[in-house]
Parts: sequence; structure tokens; C-alpha cells
Amino acid sequence: MSQTESNDHYPMPRDTSETARLNAQHKCLVGAFGFHIHPSIPVASEERKLRVADVACGSGIWLTEIATQYPHAQCDGFDISDKQFPAASDLQSSFGDRVHFHAQDATVEGGYGKDFAGHFDIVAVRLLHISIAGAQWTRAVQNAIALLKPGGYLQWIDWDPHSAHLVQSRPLVAHVAMDQLLGIFKQFLSTMDTGATARLPQEMREGGLMDVRSELFALDADPGWREHFLWTITTVMPDVLAKRAGLMPGGAGDGKDWARLKAVAQEEGKQEGLWVRTEIWCHVGKKPM
Ligand SMILES: C[S@@+](CC[C@H](N)C(=O)[O-])C[C@H]1O[C@@H](n2cnc3c(N)ncnc32)[C@H](O)[C@@H]1O
Repeated sequence: MSQTESNDHYPMPRDTSETARLNAQHKCLVGAFGFHIHPSIPVASEERKLRVADVACGSGIWLTEIATQYPHAQCDGFDISDKQFPAASDLQSSFGDRVHFHAQDATVEGGYGKDFAGHFDIVAVRLLHISIAGAQWTRAVQNAIALLKPGGYLQWIDWDPHSAHLVQSRPLVAHVAMDQLLGIFKQFLSTMDTGATARLPQEMREGGLMDVRSELFALDADPGWREHFLWTITTVMPDVLAKRAGLMPGGAGDGKDWARLKAVAQEEGKQEGLWVRTEIWCHVGKKPM
């Protein structure tokens, strides 16, 4: 369902703090990667309409920036939740009829339906990893490929949350609380599908894509990303884990003094020469003509 068509949802609550976090994260990611669209992907000239989809688009910040950069682009964003979509009136005044958002599960059996099948030149996915598991991965890849026109490109940027670990550039840096947080985080992840990001190129080839290229980025080389990710680990993660611990009594993290753990982790994060490294991949593949 298109948000622009769903007036019965209004007024709806907007998850502005998560939106602000995703938008700040987007700025850091684009700054560190240095591109919105991987340079190996050709972007159609102005004469031909460029059709771009953003799957699991969150606030849609990547997509609306694409719509700004490419005034000939027709853009569709999809997410399982419409909570963070930009307001339809803002989209209309900024982009006319070029940008639409749709509530859609990326892993659904049967895909996105005939209105969107074979519709897009570029389908982008970013940071879906932590939300899906097992067979959902294969369906998400197949559904994304089904959106592509022959000759279209899938760009999938994702991280391996299990790869997150502390590194330091000085001796004797304190990181007890941050170690604990990352340890609990990984216990929570134990039900997820480990290594799915690294398996994506295989899934993309099995889904029929060619020229699959996978690049592993050391984003922590970028100071902006390093600072943002450290903030995420010390400020956002404790709250998320505390909430999950409440939902899973007796599980990892249950009974912890979360406020104290967060405060100590934040102090540790202020030290020089301590940050969190994680693996982030950019995978690109082309649908044969
Ligand atoms: C970490 S956010 C990333 C948002 C955006 N791609 C970005 O990079 O800013 C993950 C997004 O995936 C969405 N999501 C989770 N499970 C999904 C699913 N099965 N289908 C579609 N979207 C999903 C969430 O609602 C959330 O907006």
C-alpha cells in the first residue's frame, strides 16, 4: 500500500528519535563510503527515466537524496513499517509525483506483486541484516531481484553484527562495560543467521545475478563513522538491550543495572584510542538482459 494513498493512517505517530538516528547514521555512512550508488552501477541519462527502489528504507533518507540528485528519477521506498516515512505532503511539495513510499515486507512469499515486478533500474538495500533470519534471507534476495528490470542492478550494503569488536590504538584503555555490552548483544544475536551478509553474493548469483562484486569496507577508518558507531554502542545499544532483557526474563542481560552499565560504557567511550570495528559489505550484481 502506498503511503501517499493511505489517508486513513493520518494523523499517525512519527518515530522521530529513531528517524533522527537513522538520518544521522545515513550521513556518516555516505561520508564513509563516499557514494550513494556504487560507481560500478551506470546511472541512466536524463533522457530516460531512472527508476530506483529502496528496500527496508526506514526514514527514506537515502531515497529522497537520490531523488534530489537525479531529478529524472522515479523513486519508490519500501519498508515493513510506515512509521518513519516522510509525510506525503512534504514529498509532494519537494518531488511532485516522483517519490512514493509503501508498507511492504521484504521477505514476503510471492514478492512485491505485479505492479513492481521488473520495474526498477536500481534496487538498493541497506542494513537489513539484524531484522531477518534463516530462509527470510533467500526470499528477501529473490524478491529484490524480481523488482529489477533486465539489465538492472541490485546494491546491498549490510554489516555482520557478529563481527563487532573493540579495538584500541593505545595500551591500558578501560573497556569492561563496553565488552559486557557487546557480549550481551552477541548473545541476543545467537538466534539470528550468522554470516548471512557474507553469504549474500552466493544468494545473488543463485538468484540469477551476474557480475557480482563484493567489497568489504573498513568504515572505522573514517572518523565520522567511528564516532557515530561508538555512540550507537554506548548510547543506543544499552537501551535496546535493556528492553529486550525485559522481554526475555532469565535470558542474557536479565537483572543487570542497565543505567549504570550505560553510564560506565559512555565514560569508557570518551577515552582516546578506543573504538568498535565491524565488517560492512557492499554487494552489487546485475540482472542479465
Ligand atoms: C537499520 S534500519 C535501516 C533503514 C535504512 N535502510 C537506512 O539505511 O537508513 C532497518 C529497517 O528495516 C526495516 N525492516 C525490518 N524488517 C523488515 C522486513 N521484513 N521487510 C522490510 N523492511 C524491514 C525496519 O523497519 C527498518 O526501517
